[in-house]
Amino acid sequence: MAIMVCGGAGYIGAHTVFELIGRGEEVVIVDNLQTGHRGALNPAAKFYEGDIRNADILEKIFSENKIEAVIHFAANSLVGESVQNPLKYFNNNVGGMQILLEAMTKFGVDKIVFSSTAAVYGEPEKIPIVETDKTLPTNPYGESKLIMERMIRWVKNLRFVSLRYFNAAGAIESGSIGEDHKCETHLIPLILQVPLGKRDHITIFGADYPTHDGTCLRDYIHVVDLADAHILALNYLRNGGDSEIFNLGNGRGFSVKEIISAAEKVTGQKIKTEIGERRAGDPAKLIASSDKAKKILHWTPRFSEVEKIIATAWNWHKNNPDGYKE
Ligand code: UFG
Repeated sequence: MAIMVCGGAGYIGAHTVFELIGRGEEVVIVDNLQTGHRGALNPAAKFYEGDIRNADILEKIFSENKIEAVIHFAANSLVGESVQNPLKYFNNNVGGMQILLEAMTKFGVDKIVFSSTAAVYGEPEKIPIVETDKTLPTNPYGESKLIMERMIRWVKNLRFVSLRYFNAAGAIESGSIGEDHKCETHLIPLILQVPLGKRDHITIFGADYPTHDGTCLRDYIHVVDLADAHILALNYLRNGGDSEIFNLGNGRGFSVKEIISAAEKVTGQKIKTEIGERRAGDPAKLIASSDKAKKILHWTPRFSEVEKIIATAWNWHKNNPDGYKE
């Protein structure tokens, strides 16, 4: 039986497909290639180009393949864009989830691993964040993911694992796939554009936060560790595990300035910085407790050093300065 990966041509989706194939799983990808890339598609996976909001394409996939479980990454994921265009996020993320759940119900597919986000928590009341903490998103992106989590709960005969990622970063060590967003907003790829000669400097969004150096702390987690967690979650459901929500992070916060210094060490180049205004909606600190994932899923992140995470990102960007060729 196959695993259907919705959004398997995207950043985290493609890394998870790679790990699934490496473990001998049969994989069927559906992706509308809106933010995913043809070049990120794994040749060992079967690919359907299409949008999960189209019930016909899902019907076709579920009819033509024996799908055991779904891993769902297909969603828009930019915080700033979601504030500008909230209905895009409710249409694609929430609407896509509804059509997907209807198709899964129709075809009796009873397991889903869902790509959620730390953005469901909003401004944390305490650090580290645990799964039972209050969820009060501060942007439509986080809200859409929280609604999606809540929708899954009500579907009969369906078990789910929802994985709330903190700051995904890095790339597979071979550098064959990596992060490539048409409009990049994430800190690490933006910093690396400076040594690549694609940008003059990195702007630090606020240096007056209540942290040790005034810049925001984030919990950076390697994309391959995230991919591993999806496979552990899948196996957990296969072994009869109950529906659960898990945070995925390293449990350590690094400031924007610390990430820049680490990138200087990795690239061997001085990175010019400028202090800018705070970015709206940025909490000062976002750090996960991943104890629950470690205890229940037996997840052990391999890339705990931020320099190692940045080194894998650098390996990808250096060799693919303009991202995927297609
Ligand atoms: N930052 C800068 N300059 C930049 C870009 C970012 O100083 O040019 C700062 C941000 O202000 C923030 C930190 O770097 O303090 C990280 O910013 P990112 O945009 O890389 O990541 P976010 O923490 O905003 O958000 C990411 C994901 C979300 C997810 C969140 C959960 O994009 O989907 O992590 O932690 F919800």
